[in-house]
Amino acid sequence: MSDMTADDLLCRAQRVTPLLADRLVAWQRQEGRHHLPWQKVRDPYRVWLSEIMLQPTQVTTVLGYFDRFLKRFPDVQALAAAPLDEVLALWAGLGYYSRARNLHRCAQAVVSEHGGVFPASAQALQTLPGIGPSTAAAIASFCFDERVSIMDGNVKRVLSRALGWGQDLSIRAHEKALWAAADALVPSRAQDMPAYTQGLMDLGATVCTPRKPSCLMCPWSDLCVAREVGQPEAYPVKTRKLKRGVRENWWMWWQWQDQVWLQPMPDKGVWAGLWTLPLLDSEADAAAWVDAMPIDALSVERQPRLKHVLTHLDWWLTPWHCVVQSEVQRQALTQRLLAENEQGTWVPLAELKQKALPAPLSKLLLGLVRRGTDGIRPR
Ligand code: ADE
Repeated sequence: MSDMTADDLLCRAQRVTPLLADRLVAWQRQEGRHHLPWQKVRDPYRVWLSEIMLQPTQVTTVLGYFDRFLKRFPDVQALAAAPLDEVLALWAGLGYYSRARNLHRCAQAVVSEHGGVFPASAQALQTLPGIGPSTAAAIASFCFDERVSIMDGNVKRVLSRALGWGQDLSIRAHEKALWAAADALVPSRAQDMPAYTQGLMDLGATVCTPRKPSCLMCPWSDLCVAREVGQPEAYPVKTRKLKRGVRENWWMWWQWQDQVWLQPMPDKGVWAGLWTLPLLDSEADAAAWVDAMPIDALSVERQPRLKHVLTHLDWWLTPWHCVVQSEVQRQALTQRLLAENEQGTWVPLAELKQKALPAPLSKLLLGLVRRGTDGIRPR
């Protein structure tokens, strides 16, 4: 299967057009998803917002966020005018926070450079922050019937199986060849583009799944090369695996009465722009902070380590919950924290919801993480 060239692939795609497109459009209209909130209108603002939220996230997770976002920011002007902190606070829990920062920048660019109107072609959409070629194609095909193909992870799987493209997709030229074939497959009638694009997404999500695809339910089953050779699960081929790292930090959870100390994360890296407890690199550093305070100034609870899984990283976090016992100690601690970190503030627990917190931190602070057995104890 690996000696097929990009030209062979394109020829194969051209041979099965328009059969594949027509069947997919008919299947989507009959069997596909129709009740997702961003499908009800052809408003680029809503479609763009949903596509950014959905990129690596499940539909069921996105639904609630999508509604809350639209209530607070009903149009691109409202989003552009909002403080970034508020956008991040509403995004908190969806992860991949660079998406939220780009979302905000993109809204501002649409307002300042395009008079508040999203440009109406995939090519122009791609010039906006956070909109890559596939997202641009999704918006343009859903809202403007443009005949361009999306190419996300699901589509790579569906098309490489259907066309029998067994070349390694971690090589850029092989992925480009698949994209050229995908563009050759789109329906000839522009008004079919929304159903076609949604059909590709629906097929990948519900039928042509990574494991145990339901080939009997597939509108393309009799034309699918991977099925013909009996190996749908062998596609797509991707040899370069993501190398995962490990990181470990200690989280100083300083509490004074009903307030906790939070500080902004640096502008670059994971959680940029979100608020966090001070992060330390070792248990010895955590102990040094505690030991610098008088013995009766604190009660300290060393909590069990939490594992926070990111795409590229397993991040272990050990919270030390340190409850400050007097106002004088709080003042001394505040001075030390500001000297070390420059920024930070005591935040009342009742106001935590208004702060943009990473998901594991909101769980921790809202008491949802299971408590360890060692309980609060004096040192
Ligand atoms: N994933 C990405 N875009 C989507 C959409 N429009 N509908 C369902 N899942 C999606």
